[in-house]
Amino acid sequence: MRVTILGATGLLGKALMQEWEGNQVTGFGSRDADIRSEQQIADVIREHKPDWIVLAAAYTDVDSCETNGDLAFEVNTQGAVNVARAAKRAGCRLLFLSSDYVFDGTKTTPYETSDARSPRSVYGKTKAQAEEQIGGILPDSCIVRTAWLFGVGGRCFPDTILKLAAARETLDVVDDQRGCPTYSRDLARAIVQLCGKKATGIVHVANEGECTWFEFAREIVRSAGLNTVVQPTTSDKFVRPAERPKYSVLAPTSRQQHAISMPSWQDALRRYLAERRVC
Ligand SMILES: NC(=O)c1ccc[n+]([C@@H]2O[C@H](COP(=O)([O-])OP(=O)(O)OC[C@H]3O[C@@H](n4cnc5c(N)ncnc54)[C@H](OP(=O)(O)O)[C@@H]3O)[C@@H](O)[C@H]2O)c1
Repeated sequence: MRVTILGATGLLGKALMQEWEGNQVTGFGSRDADIRSEQQIADVIREHKPDWIVLAAAYTDVDSCETNGDLAFEVNTQGAVNVARAAKRAGCRLLFLSSDYVFDGTKTTPYETSDARSPRSVYGKTKAQAEEQIGGILPDSCIVRTAWLFGVGGRCFPDTILKLAAARETLDVVDDQRGCPTYSRDLARAIVQLCGKKATGIVHVANEGECTWFEFAREIVRSAGLNTVVQPTTSDKFVRPAERPKYSVLAPTSRQQHAISMPSWQDALRRYLAERRVC
């Protein structure tokens, strides 16, 4: 199988490049394949003739998407449409990475793939529109929604907490947003399996379990053996440009239907900390 990864220089892309074995995999960052350019994407596909394209490329700074809305839609929606059209022309499959932020967070039980999209942020809107348009262009595409991604090789929440904890005695972390931390390596392994199974449709992939950012931070500090006191606070004390869903737990039902199992986020965190120590 030949695989082209767009966004290979990002957090997930790097994990995909490391985890994908046994197939012919080529990865691109934005300098070599800008998804805003139909021509560049067509050239890459013509040259590499992939069976699968994994579209992990995105404008992922959720807060800066609020003030750079045009760029956010150009990359996350129009860029995704460009890739879907190119995949259709070339007859290859597409796996697109989407987000828990397509939901508004008003539910109190885990989000299923059948739940309606209702994004609150610009970033969420760009992803929701991309999902809709890709579904129209390539009904057999696979859309993987993930959440709270962390891993070595990029900015992520555990890395930020560890750096802050090294310098402070106390940390205030919001306790009123609940979601599913996801380790880039575990997500990458799930994506490899989904492509191998020729999966189609929407699949929710996150590590097993759920927590608030406060609970996540407390476990990060505890697992790293630090003494920093982590205190719960509320989102109104940390107002940010983009509104986040209060609850965006992704139900595991869809991945279980594809026989994909994911370790708990606590187990994933321990492996992340071990990987971080040696990097
Ligand atoms: N991070 C999260 O918490 C999270 C949560 C849910 C879903 N997701 C989704 O998961 C996917 C991977 O996220 P990530 O955290 O790994 O992202 P990331 O670390 O921010 O990396 C983004 C990647 O996209 C590439 N890129 C940006 N603009 C591009 C453009 N115009 N053309 C081509 N490539 C472009 C970047 O390339 P260069 O570095 O070469 O510029 C980089 O490889 C994204 O689709 C994201 O929306 C992420």
